Order: sequence, then C-alpha cells, then structure tokens
Amino acid sequence: MSEVVAIYPGSFDPLTNGHVDIIHRGSRFFDRIVVSVLVNVEKAPLFTAPERVAIAREVFSGWANVEVDTFDGLLVEYAQSKHASVIVRGLRAVSDFEYEMQMALMNRRLSPDVETIFMMPAETYSYVSSRLVKEVVALGGSVHGLVPEIVERRLREKKLARETLRA
Ligand code: PNS
Repeated sequence: MSEVVAIYPGSFDPLTNGHVDIIHRGSRFFDRIVVSVLVNVEKAPLFTAPERVAIAREVFSGWANVEVDTFDGLLVEYAQSKHASVIVRGLRAVSDFEYEMQMALMNRRLSPDVETIFMMPAETYSYVSSRLVKEVVALGGSVHGLVPEIVERRLREKKLARETLRA
C-alpha cells in the first residue's frame, strides 16, 4: 500500500504546544505529516513566514516523519501537490466547530479525494490559542508551558525589539 501523507496547515503565529500535541498524535497515524505554514496570513502576523518556518523546523528537527513546508493559495491544490490525502485540523472546543466545518466542507467540494480529519489536543491545551498567547505576552504575562521553549524565547525577543523601537 502506498504511504499516507497528511498535511497539517495553519498560520502558526506562533506555534503552540496545542499544535505540537496534534502533530505528535498525527505522526503516530500517518506515514508522513507535513506542517504547512500559511505564508500570507490575512492580518499582519507577529512572526514572518521564514521565522514561523524556522521555529517549526527547530521544534520538529528530531521527528522522523514530520516535515515543515510553506504554502499559499488554495489548500487543496497544495495538498494535491504534496500527494496528501488527509488534512489534519485540531478541534479544541465547540467554538472551533463552525469555522472548521465550513472549511472542511468547502475543501471537500473543491477536492473530494482529500479528507479532513479532526483531532483533539490534550485537555491541558484546550484553551490555548496563538491569539491569546500573543496577547498575554504583549501584556507582560507568562506563557511558560503553553508554547515550545524556542517560541517563548522568540516572543520575548520580539517584545524587547518592539519596546526598544518605541523608546
Ligand atoms: O491556523 P489557522 O489560521 O486557523 O489556519 C487556517 C488555514 C491556513 C487552514 C486556512 O486559512 C486555509 O486553508 N487557507 C488557505 C486558503 C484556502 O484554501 N481557502 C479555501 C478553502 S476553506
């Protein structure tokens, strides 16, 4: 049987431990999982695409079947270009459901051969989002344990750089 390739798309601005948890679960089920970083995020991202990719590459450097890539444009076209038959998405709470259902059904309409599979992160991370992580750090709070250490460092560096610019 041919290998099953899954893509795990997202903005990853920044990568959280919730994302890492989903990738860990996915890496046990699929032959290969491609962490696919969306280049053109609608709102101005905190981290540039190369920064988001560099962080993910460092976090997953020892993970044999996990690779990190970027994409732009239609997700299903990108999935086909990677020979991926699965799109993995995390579902934290009911509040995620509507947006995820719409995307999954639109993607199915565009490409019936690509299946979206939802995974739940560990309950420890069920309230963690990139948006809240950025907000807490911007306001001086700690996100220790909620993001990989490299993300914690990079967030601190970004905050310092922004404060220096404003001074
Ligand atoms: O981490 P995010 O921001 O929730 O990820 C959203 C993402 C990247 C999965 C979504 O914005 C996406 O798939 N963008 C690609 C554009 C696309 O294919 N749109 C039409 C299908 S819904």
